[in-house]
Amino acid sequence: MISARSIFIGLLLLAFPLLAADPGWKPLAEDGLHDPASPAIGVLQEPAEALSLLPPDTAGNRVSWVRALRERYIAPRTNIFPETNIEILDMDIIMDQTGELPLVLFPHKPHTEWLDCANCHDRIFVEKVDANPINMFAILSGEYCGQCHGAVSFPLTECNRCHSVVRRTFTGKPGVQPKPEPD
Ligand code: HEC
Ligand code: HEC
Ligand code: HEC
Repeated sequence: MISARSIFIGLLLLAFPLLAADPGWKPLAEDGLHDPASPAIGVLQEPAEALSLLPPDTAGNRVSWVRALRERYIAPRTNIFPETNIEILDMDIIMDQTGELPLVLFPHKPHTEWLDCANCHDRIFVEKVDANPINMFAILSGEYCGQCHGAVSFPLTECNRCHSVVRRTFTGKPGVQPKPEPD
């Protein structure tokens, strides 16, 4: 039987070329957010001027923020209070409830380079593999990964960035992935 959910996901796939069309960086006066009559328009830096200097990406606001941080194009302050403890966690999790699609690889490292654990645990995700009934319909409705992806981080039309592990060639087990031996 074809469920409403698969029709929804199917329609999203059809809309993909439209959604993925490159919008470019709109001038502030034309972005629909700033008041074109405001005197600040002439003072504020234009997105194209600032963002074109950062490592490029093909989706979202066309900046690879992961690279921008790692390659030190930007150096945002990590904490406001000196007592805040910064923890970067290198732990990949593979999720296999993906139907016909490649498996999902969730990498903790690039997330914890930007975010504190408390952004996700346990408000969005219980801190235990398979303890969350994550599915694509909920994500597209703005839950789980969809609380950020499609809002502040790369858009949900980039299926293969999350569904990045080919099922046929994956020989490991889903869940927390063993770290590769250091060479
Ligand atoms: C931000 C990450 C992310 C993106 C982008 C993403 N997915 Fe998913 N998807 C997931 C996660 C997480 C699951 C649940 C996996 C699990 O629980 O094992 C999932 C599950 C699924 C499933 C399994 C059935 C279901 O309804 O849950 C399908 C089908 C699916 N995604 C299709 C897509 C398609 C098509 C796209 C692109 C239009 C897409 N996904 C983009 C993260 C993502
Ligand atoms: C962007 C969201 C996000 C952030 C930030 C995050 N996690 Fe997670 N974490 C997840 C997801 C998603 C899972 C897998 C949940 C599932 O499989 O249902 C997970 C699972 C875990 C698990 C379970 C592993 C197991 O063996 O069951 C631990 C432990 C964990 N995270 C620790 C942390 C710590 C410590 C931090 C901060 C340094 C952190 N996480 C930051 C999303 C996040
Ligand atoms: C609390 C916000 C938040 C949640 C929830 C979240 N992400 Fe992310 N994610 C980010 C941010 C921020 C980045 C880095 C900036 C960017 O790429 O847009 C990122 C980057 C990524 C990347 C790219 C890593 C790289 O090396 O380029 C993947 C893959 C990803 N997320 C998958 C997921 C999946 C799968 C889920 C759900 C299981 C999820 N994310 C949930 C905020 C989030």
